[in-house]
Amino acid sequence: MKLLFVASEAYPLVKTGGLADVAGSLPEVLRQNGVDVRLLLPAYGDLLESLDTRPPLVAELELAGQTVRILEARLPDTALATWLVEHPLFSQRPGNPYHDPQGKPWADNAERFMLLSRAAAQISTRDTALEWQPDVLHCNDWHTGPAIALVHLEQRRPLTVFTIHNLAHMGLFDRATFDRLQLPGHFWQGDAMEYYDNISFIKGGLVYADYITTVSPGYAREICEAPGGMGLEGLLQQRRERLVGILNGIDGLTWDPATDAYIEQRYDADSLPDKSLNKQALQQALGLEVRSDLPLLGFVGRLDQQKGLELMLPVLPQLLALPVQLAFLGTGEALYEQQLQALADAHPGCVAVVLAYNESVAHRIEAAADIFLMPSLFEPCGLNQLYSLRYGTLPLVRAVGGLADTVVDASAAAMASHTATGFVFREPTAEDFLATVQRACRQWQDKETWRQLQLTAMAQDFSWQQSAARYLALYRSAPEQ
Ligand code: ADP
Ligand code: GLC
Repeated sequence: MKLLFVASEAYPLVKTGGLADVAGSLPEVLRQNGVDVRLLLPAYGDLLESLDTRPPLVAELELAGQTVRILEARLPDTALATWLVEHPLFSQRPGNPYHDPQGKPWADNAERFMLLSRAAAQISTRDTALEWQPDVLHCNDWHTGPAIALVHLEQRRPLTVFTIHNLAHMGLFDRATFDRLQLPGHFWQGDAMEYYDNISFIKGGLVYADYITTVSPGYAREICEAPGGMGLEGLLQQRRERLVGILNGIDGLTWDPATDAYIEQRYDADSLPDKSLNKQALQQALGLEVRSDLPLLGFVGRLDQQKGLELMLPVLPQLLALPVQLAFLGTGEALYEQQLQALADAHPGCVAVVLAYNESVAHRIEAAADIFLMPSLFEPCGLNQLYSLRYGTLPLVRAVGGLADTVVDASAAAMASHTATGFVFREPTAEDFLATVQRACRQWQDKETWRQLQLTAMAQDFSWQQSAARYLALYRSAPEQ
């Protein structure tokens, strides 16, 4: 079986969030299961610069009057063949793939990701110099939605799968942009890609794909209703029989406290007390007081409304009074960055804030913290809570999407049956969040029970094997038309 897997980012070549973790691990696992996979990514300037050698040119494609070059590389540390779509719109744009240094989306994003989509569609439906055509085209998120729509114009086409990693990002562009893109006129219709007087790239995937998947069963249910469906719930309900939630896995080589090269002291379930050395090391590195008698609460993530900053920020002073220490790593909205920085300035030694994108600090917080905060307003899957479980850093999450599917609250019953793995709250309020942190901190004082919770968390299996098998089953099942 030949599979073309298309995404706008893949770890370790380019990453801004969890999509990169998925695109950097699922295709390789599928390859190991016998699938002939090609990963297709844009050849961003920074990506090309990060490679030791310039990858060879393997084809040129003519796409609606533009020429792109396909370069063939390998995803580092894997045997996965990766095709890079090279065009000045990608290669001559250093920095973040989606927006400028001020956070404003690049003005030509529609043109840029249409190129990626057209390249995917062309490889999937035409004889090209690549001499390879997929049986399955698997696209991810809005950047690749038009590829599915374009492929469905053709008689001879592969099976198409579209994965929603985040419905909040729809790829919306105005009518003038639509006209510039030279797409078939009927794409501008409510039952095609039009959405409230815009063109929505994600609708290309949602309307036309043979199968739609999303990254947890919980999120699959939530997006079929308001408000989770964000205006697309009607369409998703219509397509319910073709929509399936498949939980993300984690890359067990990159995220394993027993082998993690970023952390001060490696550990596993048998050497759990060694975890505390990571706490000490992080406290020192980030200028926190070195104290073992306070719980350290960690946060890693995009500073975006999605991540529940508005539930946390109002009560952070009350958290500090419990008392606890806080370590934040993230970048995002300027207002959140400022508020966090102000808190750190006001509470030196108790609050550490790193406003950067930093893989090393992300791993070190996972290993060092006692409790990992993830009070998201919505969360399609979430990977950080899965990493936290593996690191024995108990996740404190809101009961939404993939968070509710993967963390078991430390209720009396769940603790008695040794199934509890973290702390879960329901209401999207600062009060409920605060009360749950208080509950977690009380629990933390009981060292023996805490250790049991950690061991249960660390024993959970969120490797890719099971999820990859579900994707394989989907690829093999031809839908009834
Ligand atoms: P999302 O995809 O919504 O951002 P996920 O939990 O699925 O959320 O994945 C986020 C990924 O991005 C994780 O691998 C996390 O460690 C990483 N990440 C987020 N922010 C940062 C940061 N500032 N520095 C390093 N890694 C980060
Ligand atoms: C998105 C979601 C996140 C998910 C990730 C990978 O960015 O916000 O919940 O884990 O994609 O699927």
